[in-house]
Amino acid sequence: MKIEVCMGSSCHAKGASRVLDLLREAIAANKLEDKIELAGSICLGACKESGANLRIDGEIVTGITKENFYEFFNTKVIDALK
Ligand code: FES
Repeated sequence: MKIEVCMGSSCHAKGASRVLDLLREAIAANKLEDKIELAGSICLGACKESGANLRIDGEIVTGITKENFYEFFNTKVIDALK
């Protein structure tokens, strides 16, 4: 699985760096380093959405915040890897 975190200025202002930190922590905590490639991305073209935006295996996922991060991670990452 490839997860790209938007590093554009709009997402940065909406907490993308924090989401990237949470992703790194969650990937390590779940020992998923060999299953997930983490990368940065230029603007994904979804700046109007609230929260930070990501792309997972080509699918744009919008609105990630530190508040909804674990719900996102469990459904879009953990469940998807099963
Ligand atoms: S800056 Fe992230 S979608 Fe545009």
